[in-house]
Amino acid sequence: MYDGGKIVAGLVVFLAVVTSPIWYNVVAGKAEYRPDPKIVSQEKQCVAPKAWMTAMHMTLLNSWRDSVVREDNRVYVAANGKTYNMSLSKTCMQCHPNKSEFCDRCHNYASVNPYCWDCHVEPKEKK
Ligand code: HEC
Ligand code: HEC
Ligand code: HEC
Repeated sequence: MYDGGKIVAGLVVFLAVVTSPIWYNVVAGKAEYRPDPKIVSQEKQCVAPKAWMTAMHMTLLNSWRDSVVREDNRVYVAANGKTYNMSLSKTCMQCHPNKSEFCDRCHNYASVNPYCWDCHVEPKEKK
């Protein structure tokens, strides 16, 4: 013998559990949560388009370091022809002096902890 009521109830529970991530996001209202880094720069543009920077800034920093340390070349020519001094502290952090609200906000969210600041100077921030 089988009990139709129990099967239907079981199916309802099963579907609720399987789709719960969707419901959770509908209820919590943040299907695409981002850590919301705060950009305070006076300038309107980064050294490369924003979406590319979001995804590729670690790779760019590595290639800047290699260029400076291995090839002794400190000049970065951006796609729009602008030139920048390839420096973490003097270039990136000049435009992004709010490290705690910018870099750290994303990195804490993503649980990455770049060790660069063991040697490179962090911007002094007003607390
Ligand atoms: C001339 C000033 C300037 C310099 C130099 C600069 N940035 Fe930016 N950066 C900006 C601005 C302005 C934006 C936002 C661009 C936009 O909204 O289109 C930005 C965006 C970004 C983003 C994307 C943020 C997000 O919300 O996804 C990252 C990551 C970033 N920068 C990292 C860096 C790194 C690393 C360096 C050094 C290699 C650097 N920036 C150098 C001004 C600068
Ligand atoms: C939009 C979010 C976001 C912002 C803003 C951001 N980062 Fe990142 N960063 C990430 C993520 C995510 C990773 C890890 C990527 C990975 O592991 O593939 C990362 C990785 C890195 C790494 C490599 C670390 C490692 O151990 O591999 C460096 C270096 C770095 N970020 C520097 C910076 C600096 C400097 C700034 C501020 C000027 C900055 N990032 C701003 C999201 C961000
Ligand atoms: C053990 C110390 C140390 C650590 C840790 C370190 N660096 Fe460096 N880095 C140096 C030294 C020394 C130079 C050469 C400085 C010069 O010639 O101006 C350099 C140069 C650079 C340069 C080019 C010059 C400049 O002024 O920025 C970049 C970009 C850079 N490093 C990025 C990084 C990033 C990104 C990290 C973290 C993922 C990192 N470094 C971690 C010591 C370190």
